[in-house]
Amino acid sequence: MSGRPDNFTIVIFGAGSDLATRKLFPSIYQLFRWGHLPEEWRLIGVGRAGHTHERFRRYVFDRVMELSPDSVDDRQHFERFCERLFYVNAELDRPEGYTVLHGEIMRTRGAEAGCGNLLFYLSTPPSLAPAIVGNLVLAGLGGRGQACPGWRKIIVEKPFGHDLQSARELNSLLEEAFDEHQIYRIDHYLGKEPVQNIMVFRFSNGMFEPLWNRQYIAQVQITIAEEFGIRGRGAYYEEAGLLRDIVQNHGLQLLAAVAMEPPVELSPDAIRDEKSKVLRSIRLFDRETAHGSAVLGQYDGYREEKGVAQDSNVETFASLRFMVDNWRWSGVPFFMKAGKSLGRTVTEIVITFRCPPQNFYGERGTAACTPNQVILGIQPEETVAIRFGTKRPGEEMVTDPVFMKFDYHESFAEEGLTPYHRLLLDAVDGNQMNFIRRDSLERSWSIVDSIRESLAGTIPDSYPVHSWGPDSAGRIYETPG
Ligand code: BG6
Repeated sequence: MSGRPDNFTIVIFGAGSDLATRKLFPSIYQLFRWGHLPEEWRLIGVGRAGHTHERFRRYVFDRVMELSPDSVDDRQHFERFCERLFYVNAELDRPEGYTVLHGEIMRTRGAEAGCGNLLFYLSTPPSLAPAIVGNLVLAGLGGRGQACPGWRKIIVEKPFGHDLQSARELNSLLEEAFDEHQIYRIDHYLGKEPVQNIMVFRFSNGMFEPLWNRQYIAQVQITIAEEFGIRGRGAYYEEAGLLRDIVQNHGLQLLAAVAMEPPVELSPDAIRDEKSKVLRSIRLFDRETAHGSAVLGQYDGYREEKGVAQDSNVETFASLRFMVDNWRWSGVPFFMKAGKSLGRTVTEIVITFRCPPQNFYGERGTAACTPNQVILGIQPEETVAIRFGTKRPGEEMVTDPVFMKFDYHESFAEEGLTPYHRLLLDAVDGNQMNFIRRDSLERSWSIVDSIRESLAGTIPDSYPVHSWGPDSAGRIYETPG
């Protein structure tokens, strides 16, 4: 906890949202339970459910017990946690409630103590962000020039805009009220232990990095597959689609972590500089080449989901081929497959190496080579595996591919922090390393916009539930670099 402020208030806009009840309250409770929070902290939920403080506490208690009972190991302790919760009833797009919020912050801290340190969390649809930020400023709670001393930070959930232009507008608006060092654009993937391990694996070992380039690597495959569909989020998916929901953020952040150069130091900006450079090197898609580098799909039955139009052409699957035009990666395809209702839930990155120049030991008697691979398992398995050829026992000199595997859960007894634990603490501590900087965010949108524009008017190919996407998905592997 060194350097952690000893007093702060978390303000959650959208306190009744799915994210707040499923992820934020259980995570904050556990941080409290494990002693990661200081003595003096409180949480104010803002929403329009009309709760009193007492009813809000009961609501949070009941919801968490219903949705994540495993996060509570001691009901009495959890009740003590709930005593730190307060509620402000407000229409988020109207200024009146923000004056009440200001008053509540002062009241809960004791009027003479002032506003103190404030961490705002926007757990709201992106369309509300401009109004929230504008109203915070009007109420004197904006990021700078405020009458009330103390730090201000704002965490903004994805989706951060829905294209480059809207993301830019939102960024500009945020920057009218907050400085970049106060803005935390969250992508919870960056809080996952195995995602953080990508950089550690690459830069703390001497044996992989020298091979980590176009000379030795033939291709990279990133898979983000989910067995389940849109889980009742029809209205959201109709606006977002998979490219915006998964590729723009989680997918491109994984790619950046695999492809980035070593940072000059382990500081948030040094790391984010390198990620930003990779994203800038990704070739934009265009109409001429899109057919061979992007395939969109939609699972059978998507149009019957609640909130989905019967003639919807929104994609729930994408198979993409990215080229990273820089010295390290020129000519190496980065394939990305992401989708809903696929064969199984798995996120992994497979780095495939080139075969040796001569293959004496044909595999199972053929001249074929099964190339070496490094497989970074992100979830559900948190693993690193290396595939290599080995001599099959017996008379013949033939090889079989085998694996060497490290598994987080087998090797370490301690449980890692979940993404929301970690990222909430990082924000409180002022560590932006695992939050998206403006330049990276906007570049990711340029990339996704280029995919969407180059496929405009294309109808996604349908695929059966629990398959691996439409048959056409394979065509991106056939195009030469
Ligand atoms: C979210 C997407 O950002 O990430 C969801 O909106 C997706 O569609 C989810 O299911 C996946 O995250 P995780 O950590 O649950 O695998």
